[in-house]
Amino acid sequence: MTDYDTLCAQLRALTDGVPHRIANLANASALLWDTLPDLNWAGFYILEGDTLVLGPFQGKPACIEIPVGKGVCGTAAATGKTQLVANVHAFPGHIACDSASNSEIVVPVFVKDCLWGVLDIDSPLFGRFTEADAAGLEMFAEIVSGFVADAR
Ligand code: SME
Repeated sequence: MTDYDTLCAQLRALTDGVPHRIANLANASALLWDTLPDLNWAGFYILEGDTLVLGPFQGKPACIEIPVGKGVCGTAAATGKTQLVANVHAFPGHIACDSASNSEIVVPVFVKDCLWGVLDIDSPLFGRFTEADAAGLEMFAEIVSGFVADAR
């Protein structure tokens, strides 16, 4: 099981005092990719109007635009709630960017109560993510929220 307290401390250490949003998001996705076992994608989609646009990530090239309300990411954006999906093939409207993905977790990131974007993580294993991962990644998303609000 992932030690999210340590992971969050590492994210703070990497990003504290760094005023570069893209650099921090890139390091955040690399940290997730390097720490969490059994992933095939980890990264960010950033809200622009009614569309989520691909941000820094690790994994295979992915879809560039996802309308709010579509797929797992768009559902997280529309509802403002973490989506924990044990089997993506059973999720209506799931967008298959990488055919290796079988489960997925998407955590919305808010800045001052407004949706900023989502953190999206995919796994080739079915049921890879638990409620403990959801709680840990929501803590991770809070740190992301802090640095995207402050940085340029
Ligand atoms: N599967 C996502 C699309 C993004 S990729 O997984 C990177 C979705 O249904 O929103």
